[in-house]
Amino acid sequence: MRNDNHGLTLWFTGLSGAGKSTIAEIVGPELERRGILVDHLDGDVIRTNLSKGLGFSREDRDANILRIGFVAKLLTRHGAGVIVAAISPYAETRAAVREMIGDRFVEVFVSTSLDECARRDVKGLYAKAFAGEIKEFTGVSDPYEAPEHAEIVVDTEGRTPDHSAAYVIQRLEELGMITGDAAEAVA
Ligand SMILES: Nc1ncnc2c1ncn2[C@@H]1O[C@H](COP(=O)(O)OP(=O)(O)O)[C@@H](O)[C@H]1O
Ligand SMILES: [Mg+2]
Repeated sequence: MRNDNHGLTLWFTGLSGAGKSTIAEIVGPELERRGILVDHLDGDVIRTNLSKGLGFSREDRDANILRIGFVAKLLTRHGAGVIVAAISPYAETRAAVREMIGDRFVEVFVSTSLDECARRDVKGLYAKAFAGEIKEFTGVSDPYEAPEHAEIVVDTEGRTPDHSAAYVIQRLEELGMITGDAAEAVA
């Protein structure tokens, strides 16, 4: 069947506290203003439902990411703008979801450094991880394999969330994944 829907999956990866969810929440309404129906698949939320019961071993992390990728693929096929915000630490697993979704997959590396994430310590988890109270904590006691060829790299340090989100939108336009905001073009 012919499918004229141009869905996309915008996949945010980065350390805990890097800014994935914050930027995703600002980008969502921007896509909706462009007429795209948006669905958010946020790692923290997914772990309370679709991936409930999974832990943080490599096997469980991979299962979590592949489940998110599976849902993202279906929604993308139906024309949605799927915004994933999940640490997704393993390059091989990110490559697998890229493969599943195809050319409507856009990887966004939120490249905030470990030092900055630990300084922010949004959830107080870095303090615990450095104190050895949390094992398998990404960036401290568990690996994070930074993307080498992400379509979009967002450096949040010294920038506001709004600035970072605007950069993501600008890059999506440059990549031809979305078109400009009609309202803005007229104004
Ligand atoms: N440019 C920026 N983009 C996104 N978040 C930022 C930025 N600058 C500072 N922050 C702050 O960093 C924190 C990021 O937290 P969060 O979005 O929950 O991270 P993640 O989802 O990657 O774990 C928030 O407290 C946010 O206000
Ligand atoms: Mg988050």
